[in-house]
Amino acid sequence: MKAITYTRYGSPDVLRLQELAMPVAAEGELLVRIHAASVTAADGMMRAGTPRIGRLFLGVLRPKNPVPGTGFAGEVVACGAGVRQYQTGDRVFGETVFGFGSNAQYLRVAENGVIAHLPDNVSYEAAAPVCDGPLTGMNFLHNLAGIQAGQRVLINGASGSLGSAAVQIARLAGAHVTAVCSAGNADLVRDLGADQVIEYTREDFTASAQRWDVIYDTVGKSSFSRCKPVLNTGGQYLSPVLGFALLWQMLWSTWFGSKKAKFSATGALPATELRRLLSQLHGMYASGALRSFIDRRYDLSGTAEAHRYIATGRKRGNVVLCITHEAAGTGRSAAA
Ligand SMILES: NC(=O)c1ccc[n+]([C@@H]2O[C@H](COP(=O)([O-])OP(=O)(O)OC[C@H]3O[C@@H](n4cnc5c(N)ncnc54)[C@H](OP(=O)(O)O)[C@@H]3O)[C@@H](O)[C@H]2O)c1
Repeated sequence: MKAITYTRYGSPDVLRLQELAMPVAAEGELLVRIHAASVTAADGMMRAGTPRIGRLFLGVLRPKNPVPGTGFAGEVVACGAGVRQYQTGDRVFGETVFGFGSNAQYLRVAENGVIAHLPDNVSYEAAAPVCDGPLTGMNFLHNLAGIQAGQRVLINGASGSLGSAAVQIARLAGAHVTAVCSAGNADLVRDLGADQVIEYTREDFTASAQRWDVIYDTVGKSSFSRCKPVLNTGGQYLSPVLGFALLWQMLWSTWFGSKKAKFSATGALPATELRRLLSQLHGMYASGALRSFIDRRYDLSGTAEAHRYIATGRKRGNVVLCITHEAAGTGRSAAA
């Protein structure tokens, strides 16, 4: 099979398209023919091996798993012994968390891993990024913040992967949503359901006369100390981007003051919890209440280019790899 590999940390140039041996599903595993895979900001950090402390998990000297990528969508083509909930031909989606390997034509996935059936009305490319922004949004907005209908929620970085999902999830929860983005993305975030848009190039929301119950800074461009004055009493500041300042503020705010700073590493949650959130997202996608905004599509050979684009920090919504397969015996390329 064709797969992207990297054997050292570095720029997108370390990514190579290679021919690898076909994987075989072991007991309790599925073999998935991948039709679409996500490429995320986190994938770029893992490729670069930054921050360096992350290498304790990824591999100290070189990446332990040479095939990058976590989010996937595809069809089951084989089941190992003991698999009960899936069969050949099922459409599935999910993520491999720290197992990586989704930037390839085929992937082995544990049946009890982070995987779910894909609703018939959802395309592979819409499903591939669900475990990035949407899964993280469910964890931050529901698990961490416990958002309630009628609350005022501000999403900073509303046009990115995490932001575009968070705007929709907060709106579905009945919150009043303020989206912070640049002027060029104002229409996009309004279309996703934002009640109010603040263009960060014209107005600093941390200096606003308005107040919010929850501020979810999906791109980590603000800080708890700057946001505190615009949080209501009992308000919460959430950021998926961990630094020493946030770590310290989380500890401090646990004990002192009514306003709290919060972080969570979504991928580190137990698989049972990730599957529970994924089943909720399944329903939201099946009903059409939630959708993935796809900015750019690349084929497998364009993975390095996808990483370069994400590194600009200007991505809108999601970037996906659309993975094609040779039709058996014809030598033709079958569209994903
Ligand atoms: N902790 C977790 O569980 C977890 C899970 C997944 C991801 N993450 C992390 O979350 C972070 C965000 O990921 P992402 O994929 O959502 O990012 P992204 O899509 O790459 O973010 C790009 C977007 O950010 C906007 N942006 C850039 N500068 C901004 C600013 N100063 N103010 C407001 N918006 C700005 C850009 O819009 P403009 O071009 O209009 O500026 C662009 O649309 C990454 O660091 C990722 O590693 C954490």
